[in-house]
Amino acid sequence: MKTKDLKELMDDMSLDEKIGQLVQLSGEFFQANDISYGPREKLGITKETVNLCGSILNVAGAEATRKVQDRQMAVQPHHIPVMFMSDVIYGYKTVFPIPLGLGATWNPNLVKKGFEIAADEASSAGTNVAYAPMLDTVHDARWGRVLESPGEDPTLNSKYAEVMVTGFQDGLKKGNGVVSCFKHFAGYGGVEAGREYNSVDMSMSNLFQNYLPAYKAAVESGAKMAMTSLTSLNGVPSTADKWLLEEILRKKWGFKGIIISDYASIYELIKHGFAADEVDAADKAIEASLDIDMKSPCYANGLKKLVTNGRLDEKKIDDAVWRVLSLKNELGLFEDPYFGSSVEREKKSILSDDKRKLARQLAEEAIVMLQNKNNVLPINKNEKVALIGPYATDHSLLGMWAVHGDKKESISIAEGIKKYIPNIPIEKGTDVSRNRKMLEEMGFFSEDQINEMISADQVETQNNKKAIELAKKSDVVILAMGENALEAGEAGAKTNLKLPANQLDLINKISKLNKKIVLLIISGRPLVLTNIVDKVDAILECWFPGTEGGNAIADLIFGKNNPSGRLTMTFPYAVGQEPIYYNHLSTGRPAHNSQHVGRFVSKYLDAPADPLYPFGFGLSYGETDYRDLKLDKKVISKDDKLHVSIKVENTSEWDRKETIQLYFNDQVASIVQPVKRLIDFKKVLVPQHSSKIVEFTVSPNQLQFFDNHGALILEPGKFTLFVGKNSSDCLSEEFSLK
Ligand code: BGC
Repeated sequence: MKTKDLKELMDDMSLDEKIGQLVQLSGEFFQANDISYGPREKLGITKETVNLCGSILNVAGAEATRKVQDRQMAVQPHHIPVMFMSDVIYGYKTVFPIPLGLGATWNPNLVKKGFEIAADEASSAGTNVAYAPMLDTVHDARWGRVLESPGEDPTLNSKYAEVMVTGFQDGLKKGNGVVSCFKHFAGYGGVEAGREYNSVDMSMSNLFQNYLPAYKAAVESGAKMAMTSLTSLNGVPSTADKWLLEEILRKKWGFKGIIISDYASIYELIKHGFAADEVDAADKAIEASLDIDMKSPCYANGLKKLVTNGRLDEKKIDDAVWRVLSLKNELGLFEDPYFGSSVEREKKSILSDDKRKLARQLAEEAIVMLQNKNNVLPINKNEKVALIGPYATDHSLLGMWAVHGDKKESISIAEGIKKYIPNIPIEKGTDVSRNRKMLEEMGFFSEDQINEMISADQVETQNNKKAIELAKKSDVVILAMGENALEAGEAGAKTNLKLPANQLDLINKISKLNKKIVLLIISGRPLVLTNIVDKVDAILECWFPGTEGGNAIADLIFGKNNPSGRLTMTFPYAVGQEPIYYNHLSTGRPAHNSQHVGRFVSKYLDAPADPLYPFGFGLSYGETDYRDLKLDKKVISKDDKLHVSIKVENTSEWDRKETIQLYFNDQVASIVQPVKRLIDFKKVLVPQHSSKIVEFTVSPNQLQFFDNHGALILEPGKFTLFVGKNSSDCLSEEFSLK
């Protein structure tokens, strides 16, 4: 539709119709399947609001979306189509590893392809907008939503923001893209104590330096939509934070797209103690330039009152409606309200062979080998190998936020391994979780389902026995263990980051048998593995690896592929260290290299200050040496560039994908700086018995930092440059900036 016609259409709309465009409801109002997560209190929504509603949450599938579209267009006075928005977070039907695993690939180009195919599948099913990427910087593994983020580093997350947004949106021109709605603006990952929905309170320099860059990268990459955070930031709920939404997002960064609340977050302004009632909440949100109210009654029931009593200028509503209509127009919905979706296209698109192939490749690169004592991996399939554990045959490998994925389509670990050892003996050994209270509290399972998940005590004892008997007869035991899918993800905060006690117990028993043990961990977060490392030989962090998880795991443990994943989130030694992350600020009494000795340094009495596995860490088969770190200058000016090179030599018979990481430290600055900051990385293949010179170029603007007013500063002085395999294993050289 021409802009002129769209303007005419808008002029012809009643205030009620306009407000309807700013309301988003979920499936239950449209007699469609509702797969959204969140509280489901009565909303006080009238039939008229349903009929005028502008967008719908988490109804997907070509048949459903087409049917609902027909109905809505028939009842909307101007036959305006609705937009379908959905949580397509790490794949639609073909599910990839969770984003924390995608982060661990350090392979943005491959991740981009993943987002392209997710967009192809989702658009074929009628989805217009995907609620991703989630770009919250994550520092605290207690928070369940670390699963959804690429990790703890702002530079790396910004790179992923770019490929995820463009991966979704590039196809829009060709008819197989979706709009990217990045989230949760802003700073949700900083929730205090890792407790879900808790407050976020941080210095401005921290916010600008560590939390905002990835969202900004999403804006710069053309993301057409942003979702606010459920939390407050420095005392102001993000959903109504005028400074954040207007000053930063719209004015400073030039964001022209739509801002949507998170699920019920306008209503929750009342619970925050920020708004008196629904009308007040609506006022505060629209004044902050928030366009669409997701799943709350505030805009539907409040905006008209605000205009009628003169508290709100209707122009504010018009601006928001214009943004919504413009996006519908840009997507061509006035011409094709089905967005090119059809049952036939959907059938052809979803889970096609090429998509599964990519999911397998992403899972292979996401998995991180944390330990491989005595080179027990790769497994020699001619030995007596057994597969034991609750995840051995379980298909729950998709993780909580794969809301459209079908676990029946996923390849289990047993199925993957059987391609190498068709008759491998398998025992479950124990349940994933035996914590009835926790499973009940999740509110997702019926009593019958829980009874199915938790075996009777007698059965559990038998399962244990059978597993131990099997282990005794074996040379190598593969243990498939981990968290329940619903323990990680939204509302999955935990204070105990160890494997469940029943699984630890089984590991203990099997470790006494003196067998080679390979532990596969399925989890949505860094777990505390300190008490396990001595009990097993090899550990592979497999995350929730997605649809092709079982195949990818098998290819790695039998040596068809070489593990290459590297952590993007620190693995703590003890939960009491959380939040723990590599780019923490320097302190006056550092744990290492302090002028003090013994007690009076920044450390713990009962645990090391260092993590178990640092950011960037991961092992591969074979060995490489990093040497000859060279800087082409010792002193650079603000207009210069610094050229850095390092020699990476593969001394083994394995081809290795190396992730060479470049960090720096600003030695003296007017605001205390991190001990290290990642500025660049390269993932390169170094074939067996060969070496490569890897080069980087550093420009002075990469050395800038934010002050407490959000201004970028470049200060001359001395810097240390680090290049290495991970954040704690680096070579270093100094240089100065004049
Ligand atoms: C989550 C969002 C999600 C939304 C819609 C909320 O609970 O915080 O990330 O996109 O629900 O499902």
